[in-house]
Amino acid sequence: MKVVVTAGPTREYLDPVRFLSNPSTGKMGFAVAAAAAAAGHETVLISGPVSLKTPPGVRRIDVVSAREMLRQTLLQVGKPAAAGNRVVVIGAAAVADLRPRTCSPVKIKKSAMGEVLRLVRNPDILKTLGRKRLGWLRLVGFAAETGDAIGEASRKCREKKLSFVVGNDVTKKGAGFAVDTNEAVFVFPDGSYRRLPLMSKRALARLIVKEAEKIA
Ligand code: CTP
Repeated sequence: MKVVVTAGPTREYLDPVRFLSNPSTGKMGFAVAAAAAAAGHETVLISGPVSLKTPPGVRRIDVVSAREMLRQTLLQVGKPAAAGNRVVVIGAAAVADLRPRTCSPVKIKKSAMGEVLRLVRNPDILKTLGRKRLGWLRLVGFAAETGDAIGEASRKCREKKLSFVVGNDVTKKGAGFAVDTNEAVFVFPDGSYRRLPLMSKRALARLIVKEAEKIA
């Protein structure tokens, strides 16, 4: 199978020196890409701005905005040459849901800046891929939640046509942004789930790749 991983944050610029983003460091996505390549799969990593080294055997494509991430992901999901081969997209990126309606080519002066920022919605990368109903494509999502992780993950699974979602409650100690561990749950479209113990992101990444191999 071919594995395409999105990772890191996206940045949505409003002028050359200001942007909207989030604290994603890319650790989880990079760990998934490393595990996929180590398992012998052709692996492409589409990453927002992060300061991590490219794992061995991984082809990395750097992007900045959600729209660029979508465009590069679409370019990677074409029909595999060999019949029966699958492309699995694992969406670990923390994609910004909104972007400034306009981006000024020059720095906006404080005196010219209003107090209200007009925003527009970004495309949803996984949802866009799910709508294409490509027979060879399998989708895996993440759901970082601050409450009902299982309920929200199963909703996302159905809405985005995902094979499974890796859900986690980011308010728990050792889970979420900028830590090396994660306490996750695999949630499936029928609402069933498998809770996993607290483990390193590397170990979780290996389990995600194994689960992805089952659906491929
Ligand atoms: N995702 C995506 N494109 C977006 C937003 C999210 O592909 N524009 C993917 C993420 O990479 C992740 C999954 O969708 O795998 C869920 O992301 P999340 O931010 O939790 O989902 P949202 O749809 O933004 O849900 P909500 O804000 O309702 O929690």
